[in-house]
Amino acid sequence: MRARRTVGAPRPRAVIGGPSSEGLARRLARRLRAQYVGVTARAFSDGESRLSLRRAIPRDSTAIVVESTHPPVDTNLVHALTLVSAAASAARRAVAVIPYLGYARQDRAFLSGEVVTIREIARLLAGAGAAGLVSVDIHSEAARAHFAIPAVSAPAAPALAAHFASMRMRDRIVVSPDAGGAQRAALLARELGCESFALQKRRDRRTGATSVTARGAPAVSGRDVILVDDMISTGGSISDAAALLRSRGCARVHAACTHALLVGDARRRMRRAGISSIVATNTVPGPAAAVDVSGEIAAALGARPG
Ligand code: R5P
Repeated sequence: MRARRTVGAPRPRAVIGGPSSEGLARRLARRLRAQYVGVTARAFSDGESRLSLRRAIPRDSTAIVVESTHPPVDTNLVHALTLVSAAASAARRAVAVIPYLGYARQDRAFLSGEVVTIREIARLLAGAGAAGLVSVDIHSEAARAHFAIPAVSAPAAPALAAHFASMRMRDRIVVSPDAGGAQRAALLARELGCESFALQKRRDRRTGATSVTARGAPAVSGRDVILVDDMISTGGSISDAAALLRSRGCARVHAACTHALLVGDARRRMRRAGISSIVATNTVPGPAAAVDVSGEIAAALGARPG
């Protein structure tokens, strides 16, 4: 078995619960038996953030700052950067836990002149004093590779598999809506002991329009499908994939993702495409966030199970 990658976060530990990730941070602190430091967020009248730590960060500790960067993305990103910087100056060491790492889709310049935003964010986090980064299912290996500090992407598949394991399903099959997610689908399928495959998605980089095809796909007729993606934002990709699978005669389609952003009318759009349920992890709080990944994050921090 391959050793799991970890970032070193030696004891004693303190967990700083950023405003976007309070629930997950509290769970992580309990799991690590670490001191919990809450954060109060207010806004000045011009919109600037005003953050206060509710207690002092212990000087001799490894301070673990937990803050996801879901919408409002840029506000949460500023929270993450400033909390990491404050933690790095107060503690012995600061580690950034950004369960949902926004901007990771901008991992290369798709069009000439585009800023590779995730590379700049990687530099900003290191500059703020983060000794390491833990995230969950970072969008791509290319995005993770922009970090010069140790950066670990903890897989959500084992936690998602535990959710589906007890669900009665007809000859289930795990499907990724695009080739980039093939490995994620294979990992979930391996945990569930079933088959997986990936559809092919094409995106027009100028208009953003996408289309999906099922070249070489196994038969899905009469089978229950788990459609799994790293994130669901507008619900467009997963709805297109669901519609295609339904047109091929599959039975129920369940949507699973690590990060449920579900912007605008994503849920309605997915229902209309024939998706019967949506489940996600708690990297992004919300009604779909039924699966806890604090255990996966703790393991990536190098904590022993239990
Ligand atoms: C793209 O490559 C990602 O893995 C997701 O498929 C995509 O970002 C989901 O976005 P939306 O829900 O807006 O289609």
